[in-house]
Amino acid sequence: MPQFQVSTPQRNYAAIVERGAIARLSEFLPHGCGKAFVVTTRDVWDLHGARLTDAIGKHPHQVLFFAGGEGNKRMSHVEAMAETMVESGADRSSIVIAFGGGIATDLAGFLAAIFMRGIPVIQIPTTLLAQVDAAVGGKTGSNLVSGKNLVGAFHQPLAVLIDSGVLNTLPEREYRAGLYEIIKTGIIASEPLFRLLADRRDDVLAQNHHVVDHIVAESVRIKAEVVSADEREGGLRKILNFGHTFGHALEAETQYTGFLHGEAVSWGMRAATHLAGFLGMLADDDVLSILWTLDRYGPIPSTAGIPAANLEARLVKDKKTVQSKVHFVIPTRIGEVVVKSGIDNALVLRAIERALEECK
Ligand code: GLY
Repeated sequence: MPQFQVSTPQRNYAAIVERGAIARLSEFLPHGCGKAFVVTTRDVWDLHGARLTDAIGKHPHQVLFFAGGEGNKRMSHVEAMAETMVESGADRSSIVIAFGGGIATDLAGFLAAIFMRGIPVIQIPTTLLAQVDAAVGGKTGSNLVSGKNLVGAFHQPLAVLIDSGVLNTLPEREYRAGLYEIIKTGIIASEPLFRLLADRRDDVLAQNHHVVDHIVAESVRIKAEVVSADEREGGLRKILNFGHTFGHALEAETQYTGFLHGEAVSWGMRAATHLAGFLGMLADDDVLSILWTLDRYGPIPSTAGIPAANLEARLVKDKKTVQSKVHFVIPTRIGEVVVKSGIDNALVLRAIERALEECK
């Protein structure tokens, strides 16, 4: 099974895509490492905790639970877990194991980044979204009331263990939320990946092992390449934000409760695709193909009653906005995108309105 190397100035590590990869955890514990702190939620632990306990074996460890949900991705939980670690004898030789979805991988990574000014983390993502995006690339952080992921750090893991064998317990809605990130990867960098998602929807939704392993591996391969080329999002890595600037605005506007992150990204890709069409940068066939494919993996929750103007106002608060200039990732064909700023506000508003209308 595939293994992809992520090579960054901070660290080189493997993202291993393999059914059963969790069992390999002890291979990646550094020699002489101290107590391991597993950051997870109760539901993930109830479903998959036994696999992790088996994998960690006799190595001293403790499980730190936090309440799941985007609304709980907050500094207060990071602080509480850090206090528990100190009370439980953590020191600079300790390690954090992130075990869960994107919120767990982000919060646990952030905890590791700042605990005693930084201890190692191993990422073990258990949702599709975290496997193909959040756990790979070292982005960690938490939300502020004013916006998503507004505090955080780049903290590359020692390894990412991606075990698609855990996906069959995911609620269908969460699975689809992860698929939107894979559709994103196809649109930004791989037409074959996008076409596979478009053409083999039934196999994808039925979690055909062969298809799932392929689309996860392709997404991780592409993400590893992008992060290796640009760890800190100075250039190329920005393409991974396709749909995210709009999506983050939707998440913040609905207080992180209305939409799963992947669903918000799906809506955001729709808005960005309309914007590309309005700008004359994307052919009508490609616009329709993207919208059709997003529909095939829908629906997302209704956007009825969400004011377009509020979403537009939130775009300037996104952390990718620099000196009030919003940067949009715009597809120019399927498999290729550009980053563009200085777009007429009226067009942006129209794209938001169109996407809201389609998801009412
Ligand atoms: N999720 C976008 C990135 O990792 O850069």
